[in-house]
Amino acid sequence: MFTLPELPYTKTALEPFLSQETLTYHHDKHFNAYVEKLNSLIAGTEYEKLPLAEIIRKSAAEGSKGIFNNAGQVYNHDFYFKCFGRQADDTCPLKHAKLKELIEASFAGSDDFRTKATDAAVGNFGSGWTWLVEENGKIEILNYSNADNPLRDRPNAVPLLCIDVWEHAYYIDYRNDRKKYVTELLANVNWAFVASQLG
Ligand SMILES: [Fe+2]
Repeated sequence: MFTLPELPYTKTALEPFLSQETLTYHHDKHFNAYVEKLNSLIAGTEYEKLPLAEIIRKSAAEGSKGIFNNAGQVYNHDFYFKCFGRQADDTCPLKHAKLKELIEASFAGSDDFRTKATDAAVGNFGSGWTWLVEENGKIEILNYSNADNPLRDRPNAVPLLCIDVWEHAYYIDYRNDRKKYVTELLANVNWAFVASQLG
């Protein structure tokens, strides 16, 4: 059984770019609903004792859409909330040597990186997730719909950062302005967390 992870910061820590109201609804209501639904779906099944990543891969392979969707949303939201709440001076990914190397190998500098990540997230049609992953020394920006994520189709990629583009992530603070939300989000990334994913 899974439990709702605590936020790694207070509910006012991300203001003004994400309000206490958004975090309360997004974490306590939406994220919690996915945890509870997943638990109800796997109770008494062969999924019950599996780690979350294995549940995602097994349910995808078996076409168990309800389990896949809720397991994916649990994984995605846990990762998403960890990507923010940065230290005050952690404003640029290039301050981290491994990220600097990867960004320079993959993009024409950090502005190009931010522009391409923003454009991908803004252009991700409907509800979904934009993920940044590392594989073979390059960063890739991947768009997924609904609850999908790179655990399913990119087993060798290292997940680095995810952006929730479901409207519930930004509608209270930004209404329909997804571009402003994504821009603010990318200006407030916890790059130390992102860099730590590279080992
Ligand atoms: Fe969400």
